[in-house]
Amino acid sequence: MTAFDPDRLRHEFPALDQEIHGKRLVYLDSAATSQKPRAVIGALSAYYEHDNANVHRGIHELSRRATVAFEEARGKVATWIGAAESAEIVWTRGTTEALNLVATAWGLDNVGEGDEILISALEHHSNIIPWQLLARRTGARLRYIELDEQGRLVLDDLSSLLTARTKVVAVSHVSNALGTVNPVAEIAAAAHEVGALVVVDGAQGAVHTRVDVRELGVDCYAFSGHKMCGPTGIGALWARRDLLEAMSPYQGGGEMIHIVGRQESTWAEVPHKFEAGTPNIAGAIGMGAAVDFLAEIGMDAIQAHERELMDYALGRVGEIPGIRIYGPGSLDERSAVLSFTLGDAHPHDISTILDAEGVAVRAGHHCAQLVMQHFGVSATARASFYLYNTKEDVDRLVEALGLVGSIFA
Ligand SMILES: Cc1ncc(COP(=O)(O)O)c(C=O)c1O
Repeated sequence: MTAFDPDRLRHEFPALDQEIHGKRLVYLDSAATSQKPRAVIGALSAYYEHDNANVHRGIHELSRRATVAFEEARGKVATWIGAAESAEIVWTRGTTEALNLVATAWGLDNVGEGDEILISALEHHSNIIPWQLLARRTGARLRYIELDEQGRLVLDDLSSLLTARTKVVAVSHVSNALGTVNPVAEIAAAAHEVGALVVVDGAQGAVHTRVDVRELGVDCYAFSGHKMCGPTGIGALWARRDLLEAMSPYQGGGEMIHIVGRQESTWAEVPHKFEAGTPNIAGAIGMGAAVDFLAEIGMDAIQAHERELMDYALGRVGEIPGIRIYGPGSLDERSAVLSFTLGDAHPHDISTILDAEGVAVRAGHHCAQLVMQHFGVSATARASFYLYNTKEDVDRLVEALGLVGSIFA
């Protein structure tokens, strides 16, 4: 692809080419899941139509082809986030499973009574609950990095939150509820001073920005295919090979073993040690195709486009009487998420009225109830943008919000 052109890009996404309630669909819910380009849908169909077979087990041609495509996709994802080798990518169902994998497989062996787990009040529930479960199982204590009035992490007292007992620090790269971009490299450096493991929820990170896990200096990075133009049900955990090798398996079954005995067994090499059972082969191939798609456009171009769009959206939405926008004021600290409330209108009512105008936004707590509690609200409405959105989409949002304003005035 040549110059970045969201109008042209939009036509690569068949689901965007439709009317909802008689109006052109304006899809502003990409933080929940992105739409899929033809290249990804085509890769899924091609796999099922020509190469469908189980991986790693068969000698026949289809199995060979499926295995090659599956492992090639792993390599693409590894390169995409700057991993040292493809063996550092473990396929998972998504970010949630990747985080549960670390909290369970690493956590149960390395966290004990009286130890501390440091997370933040900005986290998606999938980066809270696995650590709560680990704390409950081990007697460890869960501690929190708090938020300021703009929904940024308060890091002034980070050194007092990190102690010799801190075994793991788990934070998001980018908040799904507010769009806050966290300084993960800075947090990782401080956490490593006390010898803690650094786990990053990258569900909203690798989607919008170029990620190099080694530059970030983190230990684990979890992300989902469906938020970055790929299929649902597939994602990945990146961790360094030595860390993966030292970790116990997460689930037991086929594919993850080397030799099985009656009482004891030995494990396959990483990453297969963590991939029990038949994997989501089509999903992995689809995620590889999504990486190809995004790489061809270029993450820097995507990020620049989203920044321009957010600048425009913050300005236009910010002028609406009664609007309250949550999250950082500076574009440098915020990604493509616009969380807001409008007067006394319940976010569910906002979303329903916008839907009638063909504008899809999310309303609710966004799986981030601690963030809602911080701002003293039960829910917000959230418009989230991606590479295929345009200023015209923002105008449609603003127009529809005008209608909400007139109903609730
Ligand atoms: C920041 C963040 N973390 C984790 C998740 C969970 O991702 P998944 O549902 O793909 O496992 C999401 C999904 O919305 C998210 O936005």
